[in-house]
Amino acid sequence: MTQCWGIYREPSHSPGRIDDDAGIMDAVAAALADHDLVATLLPPEAADAAFAAPAAGIFAMCEREAILARLDDAVGSGIPVVNAPEAVRNTYRRRTVERFRLGGVPSPASRIVPAAAPGPAPASQVWVKRPDFHATQAADVVFAGSDDEWRAALAGFVDRGIHEVVVQAHVPGDLVKFYGVVGSENQPRWFHWFYHRDQELAGHAFSLDALRNAAFRAAGALGVEIFGGDAIVGPDGRPLVIDLNAWPSFALCRTEAAAAIARHLACTFNREASAPRLATSRMG
Ligand SMILES: Nc1ncnc2c1ncn2[C@@H]1O[C@H](COP(=O)(O)OP(=O)(O)O)[C@@H](O)[C@H]1O
Ligand SMILES: [Mg+2]
Repeated sequence: MTQCWGIYREPSHSPGRIDDDAGIMDAVAAALADHDLVATLLPPEAADAAFAAPAAGIFAMCEREAILARLDDAVGSGIPVVNAPEAVRNTYRRRTVERFRLGGVPSPASRIVPAAAPGPAPASQVWVKRPDFHATQAADVVFAGSDDEWRAALAGFVDRGIHEVVVQAHVPGDLVKFYGVVGSENQPRWFHWFYHRDQELAGHAFSLDALRNAAFRAAGALGVEIFGGDAIVGPDGRPLVIDLNAWPSFALCRTEAAAAIARHLACTFNREASAPRLATSRMG
């Protein structure tokens, strides 16, 4: 059996989801035993042991910069880290907007504007979103369907000391939640989706391939290997990705997701362990 490490998400980054976020990590640790990997799980503030002797690798659900910087160092010394810390940073909306554009990800028109002097709204109906983390409170993602609402939304961000926002065109349609784990030569990618529950479904027809391709293109643009997100399917059947998160809680598909994640981690950790660089350092 080979040792590896998991690092939980910070409870402050799991609003209303602390148990589910811990639950997927625990389930992955259990599933790794099928691959002869023994995972020890640590909270980010007490993760020294993982960095002192990273063994096969580290899988991490944490998001704060202090621990991401430590994970950067691990990556720099050749330790496999999933998701990579830079990929987690790429899920900050400010970066996501740019990377989706460069990567040709099907997504609604989005741009970054100064909250204090934004000019008129770029569309009649928009969503105004904080530029860094995903929403931890309702005020982080605000709909504006009129000029007054647009100004009020921006003023709300300025009041909270947030001086730059992402503004995204509203897309009417069916809200789809999706989940994925990337694959490799030897292992198929894993994908799961469902309609968000609290909505009046229009039932616009769409191609599962188109949704899957949009999701994996989005994940590829950010470099996340274990991910979840939201897409809207409009009347034209084209899924547009509106949000992408690193390592969600997978609460409604935990067992299946844990098995897929464990397969991917085993593959990544074993691949890196047999790479020439590590073999050389072991010999030397
Ligand atoms: N461009 C958009 N078009 C339509 N609905 C949106 C759009 N952006 C956000 N929403 C709605 O707001 C919700 C939250 O937005 P999202 O970007 O997913 O932020 P978060 O998941 O961080 O709260 C979405 O699930 C969706 O219902
Ligand atoms: Mg979302």
